[in-house]
Amino acid sequence: MATNRTFTMIKPDAVKAGNIGNILKMINEAGFKIVALKYTQLSKEKAGGFYAVHKERPFYGELVDFMSSGPIVAAVLEKDNAVADFRKLIGATNPAEAEPGTIRALYATNVGENAVHGSDSDENADIESNYHFSQTEIYA
Ligand code: RTP
Ligand code: MG
Repeated sequence: MATNRTFTMIKPDAVKAGNIGNILKMINEAGFKIVALKYTQLSKEKAGGFYAVHKERPFYGELVDFMSSGPIVAAVLEKDNAVADFRKLIGATNPAEAEPGTIRALYATNVGENAVHGSDSDENADIESNYHFSQTEIYA
């Protein structure tokens, strides 16, 4: 996959709060093109596999329960410098530390329920996109 893509999820807290539209609008207005999109609910197994890198962390159980607690929106986004620019758009993991105007500053509840996911590297963007989408579901 090209290095100008990132993977995101609108997490269950933001979906429940009715913020899918607001967040997709911010993503579009920041210049990202949506090349794949899915509204779905993760099983505990699927959420656990996605965050397997955190499985030794104290918050892992809570994270898996939260991420499988309701529907999410998964998407692959395209833009120059996608990974870094998207992390800038979403803001810090803890919304209390997120820059004003970022998605997490506007819509996150707390450090665990923080509205959106964004890939942290080109390699993980590729792995995460393939975890949720087949090649025929990505429209380049
Ligand atoms: P993400 O992977 O979801 O984009 O978030 P991130 O890179 O900003 O943060 P990361 O360190 O990868 O953590 C993954 C997710 O785990 C939850 N978390 N809870 N209770 C806690 O202290 C804590 N720390 C992290 C958050 O949902 C975080 O986004
Ligand atoms: Mg992360």
